[in-house]
Amino acid sequence: MIIKTSTHVLAGLALTALTVGAVVAQSPSINTATFQADGAVHVPQDYRTWVFVGAPLTPNTLNGGSAPFPEFHNVYVEPSAFEHWSATGTWADGTQIAKELVTIRTNDTTDPATGASSEVSGVGYFQGDFVGLELTVKDTVRYAEEPGGWAYFSFGHDGEPYATIAQAFPTDSCNACHEANADTDFVFTQFYPVLSAANPN
Ligand code: HEC
Repeated sequence: MIIKTSTHVLAGLALTALTVGAVVAQSPSINTATFQADGAVHVPQDYRTWVFVGAPLTPNTLNGGSAPFPEFHNVYVEPSAFEHWSATGTWADGTQIAKELVTIRTNDTTDPATGASSEVSGVGYFQGDFVGLELTVKDTVRYAEEPGGWAYFSFGHDGEPYATIAQAFPTDSCNACHEANADTDFVFTQFYPVLSAANPN
């Protein structure tokens, strides 16, 4: 009897293992970036349709007159990577996150002391023009040498049109600050409530 029960239990476990295997195999694959033979990444085409997760702003007027990135930082996560994040709270290999820089809109109400303008909703900061595009890609095989497998790119900080390709920055230029300060695997999830809501763990 005991042996029979064990057999059943074992068979049940085997079945469970098979089912789990099937679920893993069916998990959505990640849409990855495309690269040239020399390793340069192509500019993503459709990033403004990705999941918009936040827009940190560090204006010059609050940073001694000169912030490294005085514009809004509009951050977008590629949808399949977002889905994986929502399900697991981790960043999959292949994840792409774009950060587009958008000027603070000015008009004849703009106060030079604060950089803020008066609009119908109140006095504050409103978005103007697209002036820069950055990308980070996680690929622990292609970027095995980079901490966390994350590589960082810029397609320009002079406005559109952006460059069509970019080479990865050296580790110290970008990766090191992300490694030291970002909350979740090199990504500043602490500033993106859309991400913490999608996976509170
Ligand atoms: C001194 C620290 C620091 C350095 C250096 C740095 N970043 Fe970041 N980066 C941040 C912070 C903070 C955020 C999130 C909030 C924001 O944009 O202010 C961020 C966000 C990003 C994001 C959005 C995804 C995320 O991880 O939150 C991308 C893409 C990005 N940075 C690219 C770059 C690139 C490309 C470089 C190098 C040219 C770079 N960063 C260098 C601090 C840094």
